[in-house]
Amino acid sequence: MTVKRNILLNPGPVTLTDRVRNALIRDDWCHREPEFATLTREINAALVRVYTGTAQGFSSVMLTGSGTAAVEGMLASFAPDSDAGETLVLANGVYGERMAKMLTAHRKPHRVLQGEWTAPIDIAAVTRLLDEHPQITHVATVHHETTTGRLNDLDAVGALCRSRGLALLLDAVSSFGAEAIDAGAWNLAAVAATANKCLHAAPGLAFVLARDALWAAPASETGSVYLNLRAYHAGQHGDGFSPFTQAVPAAFALREALAELGDAGGWEQRRRCYRDRAARIERELAEQSVEPLLDAADSSCVLRSYRLPDGCDYPLAHDAFKRAGFVIYAGQGQFAANMFRIANMGAIGADDLDALAAAFADIFGPYA
Ligand SMILES: Cc1ncc(COP(=O)(O)O)c(C=O)c1O
Repeated sequence: MTVKRNILLNPGPVTLTDRVRNALIRDDWCHREPEFATLTREINAALVRVYTGTAQGFSSVMLTGSGTAAVEGMLASFAPDSDAGETLVLANGVYGERMAKMLTAHRKPHRVLQGEWTAPIDIAAVTRLLDEHPQITHVATVHHETTTGRLNDLDAVGALCRSRGLALLLDAVSSFGAEAIDAGAWNLAAVAATANKCLHAAPGLAFVLARDALWAAPASETGSVYLNLRAYHAGQHGDGFSPFTQAVPAAFALREALAELGDAGGWEQRRRCYRDRAARIERELAEQSVEPLLDAADSSCVLRSYRLPDGCDYPLAHDAFKRAGFVIYAGQGQFAANMFRIANMGAIGADDLDALAAAFADIFGPYA
């Protein structure tokens, strides 16, 4: 099948490889037949093996939904209810703030350390808060804060969690498969992510990995039927069936994407590839006097935010890139008027990057 190639530089979904795209279309399967149970088991087993630190002692569930469903399911299922403890949310962007909104929606006790969107997580302030509030038992935060492209310092946050015995609940929606995740050193309790970003699968499925002890613990009040992940765990690790209809074609694609990631050298190789792409994009934008919001050292390998040149209107720039075959992404919230974002996940070849450099010159050159 020949399809038009759209180069998606938005933070997911990504441009698919032919191998993954072709996996999407096959015979029709019911999600409540043994062949789908086998596929579900295969995918869950492959997901915990993406990182060596989760290969033992963790198990995964997949659910039909976007990354937000996985994060909300993780918090609904594992953040403590009243009396059982309290969750500290470390927020420096839209997605950390969204975690706090979810905890509010599920009536879970929490407090928020709200940082500036342009600032790293203030580890001294986290330490102070933890000293002052010994009832805190869980820390919830975002690995790659896609609002700005910042890779939060999880080594520092995780070291605090580990030394104090706090459970880390991590949103790795835009980093799983391409950035380091050190389950042991970070005292990781659970991590939520999605198929259609760094894993290069199709949209429709998300997943949560959590320690086996957590799955075995008595269910907390989830306040949700659909997002009660222990029901998924009981089904998928029991008879293999999920409580609700699964996105079957997306599961075919996810299995293939995980195999492709393994064949390509795993997450470390993907990080190398993304870093090269991101560095090249940053260099070529600098040639057009377009500056990044954050230093490369603070940025993920997945996405960077850039300042729009003075006088450059985002919708016009977006449309010009789209005509050239590329989808770029707007800034969020306070950055909507003066920033744009470029992600570099998915099937992007050297020719695509050459064409992108030409588009930078055409579209931003007049403002340089
Ligand atoms: C860090 C992070 N968390 C959560 C989400 C939400 O994912 P979705 O849009 O798939 O619900 C995103 C989306 O980009 C994200 O980057």
